[in-house]
Amino acid sequence: RRVVVLISGSGSNLQALIDAQHHDALGGRIVAVISNQTNAYGLKRAREAGIDAVALPHQEYDSREAYDGALIKVIERHEPDLLVLAGFMRILTPRFVNRFLGRMLNIHPSLLPDYPGLHTHARALADGVTTHGCSVHFVTEQLDGGPVALQAEVAVAEDDTQESLKAKVQAREHLIYPIAVRWFLEGRLQLRGDSASIDDVTLP
Ligand code: GRF
Repeated sequence: RRVVVLISGSGSNLQALIDAQHHDALGGRIVAVISNQTNAYGLKRAREAGIDAVALPHQEYDSREAYDGALIKVIERHEPDLLVLAGFMRILTPRFVNRFLGRMLNIHPSLLPDYPGLHTHARALADGVTTHGCSVHFVTEQLDGGPVALQAEVAVAEDDTQESLKAKVQAREHLIYPIAVRWFLEGRLQLRGDSASIDDVTLP
């Protein structure tokens, strides 16, 4: 099974997926990593793992539609079974979302439906919540609004800062994203209508 990963930055989630693949725990192979940021550190991680790393800078396109069209072409050349968004910081056009509907996952640093959008850790701290976390979800046209497949919680401590909370949440992201990808590639996680359905899964 073939996986294409889209990134914009550090790629720590990409690294977790690469590590899982190296332990035969991903259920498939990452065949390409594509970044809209030419200098994304994640591209280096991909190259070091021997994975095709492609920079596709959005600045070179006149419109979101033009960029997403080019992105679709590059992605489809790699014939993915699954498209994984791992810190890909761009809003996708409906055309793009519908092209990959049901075979595109994202990871978001909050317990959705709480805190869609940016600055999730700061907002959670400002609200004084005691539980925060991350969510893997199918991507639909609604930003951070697609059906949730898997979540992990973290306890918020009194002295947590944005940085400490982010670190705790990211550690959980790195645990759950490879699991959700494996479930999908094994055919046990599916988008069914408006919900994510999970069949017969056992946690490692
Ligand atoms: C993660 O916090 C993820 O939840 C969000 O973007 C960040 C990406 O981090 N969607 P990294 O590039 O995987 O380190």
